[in-house]
Amino acid sequence: MKYLFATVLIMMMNSVFSSDFYSPNGNIKLTVTLEEGQIYYFVSFKQKIVIKNSRLQIETEKEGQILNDLVETSSTSKTIDELWNPILGEQSEIRNHCIEVMKVFEQKNSGIKTIITFRLYNHGIAFRYEFPLQKNLNYFNIKNEQTEFRLTGNHKAFWLPADFDSQEYSYSEGRISDIDNNTIDLNNGIALKSIPSRFAVQSPLMMKTDDGIYLNIFEAAVDNYPVMHLSVDKANFAFTSLLPSNPLGIKAYLQTPAKTPWRTILLADNAANLLESNIILNLNEPCKIENTDWIKPVKYVGIWWEMHVGLSTWDYKGSKSAHSFYQEETVQTKHGATTENAMRYIDFAEKHQFDAVLIEGWNIGWEDWFGNWKEDVFDFTTPYPDFDLPKIASYAQSKGVKLIMHHETSGSASNYERHLDRAFNLMKEYQYPAVKTGYVGKIIPRGEYHDGQTMVNHYHHIVKRAAEYQIVVNSHESSRPTGMHRTWPNYIAAEAARGNEFNGWSIGNPPAHETILPFTRLLGGPMDYTPGIFEIKMNVYDSSKSFQVHTTLAKQLALYVTMYSPLQMAADLPENYERYADAFQFIKDVALDWQKSIYLHAEPGDYLVVARKEKIGERWFIGAITDENDREINLGFSFLDKEKTYEATIYSDSPEAHWQTNPKAYTIRKINITQQSSLKLQLAPGGGAAISLKPLNN
Ligand code: NOJ
Ligand code: CA
Repeated sequence: MKYLFATVLIMMMNSVFSSDFYSPNGNIKLTVTLEEGQIYYFVSFKQKIVIKNSRLQIETEKEGQILNDLVETSSTSKTIDELWNPILGEQSEIRNHCIEVMKVFEQKNSGIKTIITFRLYNHGIAFRYEFPLQKNLNYFNIKNEQTEFRLTGNHKAFWLPADFDSQEYSYSEGRISDIDNNTIDLNNGIALKSIPSRFAVQSPLMMKTDDGIYLNIFEAAVDNYPVMHLSVDKANFAFTSLLPSNPLGIKAYLQTPAKTPWRTILLADNAANLLESNIILNLNEPCKIENTDWIKPVKYVGIWWEMHVGLSTWDYKGSKSAHSFYQEETVQTKHGATTENAMRYIDFAEKHQFDAVLIEGWNIGWEDWFGNWKEDVFDFTTPYPDFDLPKIASYAQSKGVKLIMHHETSGSASNYERHLDRAFNLMKEYQYPAVKTGYVGKIIPRGEYHDGQTMVNHYHHIVKRAAEYQIVVNSHESSRPTGMHRTWPNYIAAEAARGNEFNGWSIGNPPAHETILPFTRLLGGPMDYTPGIFEIKMNVYDSSKSFQVHTTLAKQLALYVTMYSPLQMAADLPENYERYADAFQFIKDVALDWQKSIYLHAEPGDYLVVARKEKIGERWFIGAITDENDREINLGFSFLDKEKTYEATIYSDSPEAHWQTNPKAYTIRKINITQQSSLKLQLAPGGGAAISLKPLNN
């Protein structure tokens, strides 16, 4: 009796207010509660709880925890249903369809107001903290954000160790309870190792429950705020947001009105649905560039792989190859970015109708770029004496080939900002429409991280200034994108994950790598993965090296379709393409901008099959990839136009192909295909297939 009385009393004291909201199709239910003045939420998907009661909390430097002792002052909801057209994209039209719920809370003593906005989509939910303009909160500093994601079990997870300076790792696959950064090989790449905790991972974090629900924790529209990592409480399968601080221990300087990025939870019981969701893009603001005519897809080649395989160098003296940076050894070779070599690549690009040529190592500074942590390594304007910039630029123009500028900052963002206008003006003078930026090394200003607020603002600053100059940006070693290319479509691609380059000078990317990236890194935006390496084994260049690409040649072709990007490199050497000219034809043909994309088969870590229709025209391209296991894929073609017959060119692994023992064994055949057709594709271990479909004139 006494016990019962006590419980009733506690319930009366603990006023619990709760409200439920549903996704447009009713599959997702979100419950928001206010318990003892604190905000909690939980989520179910098709009647199953997927996020348990999880708390939302923000701590500021002066005001302390601003999300306790709250009262809810209003709650409103509305339906958003709109169509929009990305400038470049996987579809020509995207539907933004969700229920938006806005809840206003006020802290009793301080009077501080915070709004939490939730959005419920058919394949996930999102929410963000908003701090309206108010006298009680003006300039304020975020000391901590404690957003919880409490899961219901020990799910399978694909994780990267939290590292505030790099995402260039391969994924670990295991249970939540297996997460432990002490158990992974941190020397397997160039990762900078600003690892905040043994038990923390990066977002996006892809998971799968034992009953087949795909669940992904990520964020969208990261602007003026640091990147979200997640610390894990393994005993409770719970994650909490973990943000990098600046040197003063502050996570973000904000001024009201302000808002945080959206925290997102994607949910699906079919992995393909998760890839088709567009939630991250929909949470970003519409395009802010008025005239976008100059923003075009870019297919390019470059003076690049030859440095990575050690045939030439970025520096003038020819003594620092990629091996010397990444493997600490000096190889005497030759400078890559010479006038003569640039003209050779321009000729190659013209002959094979590529849009552009990237040239790295053209400017002075590379003697010092790595490991010295120098403030002002590069000026971004002075070519080496053997690089005749005016001559190369006019040669490129005469051939109708564009040049891609390279701005490696070696982590010195402040130096880059100082030189930015001079650097962009030089590009304008010589008609470079695109820049590849890079942030290898520790960040200057010192004490900042690649993923901190200062650097997030820097990357945006560069993209916005580039838009003024009508320049498209491809950034490497920047923080991973979160859909900002909707707002700034000149942010054409980024690296921000472990690219193909790792296969050239390290133990490389395991065969499953490219089957995981679409479920993680690519959710936020296009990646400059640099596919198309045909010469798979690096001992061709240096017999002492056992490095190799961990795919078959056919899979390298498939990556042009499975890894969406409007910027794609044909990364290998011209001579390798001349040698495999028949396979090279696929890279020449493949489109980069799409009317529609259909994810036909997908399982993170295992396989992916995608069909895409070019934006202007009637051709389709299909890419199919597998992990280290061979696989048979049954392809149907119901998506094709029923009136048409297509000539399909099928680039596939030969029966004896294997990524390790026989990676270059491929076959090419042509057959006719209609909507009624079906096709069995055999993918080798680490293999893939690429298909181009062209309507016959009938
Ligand atoms: C790392 C980049 O990812 C790579 O593409 C580039 O060649 C080197 N840095 C040098 O800037
Ligand atoms: Ca890189």
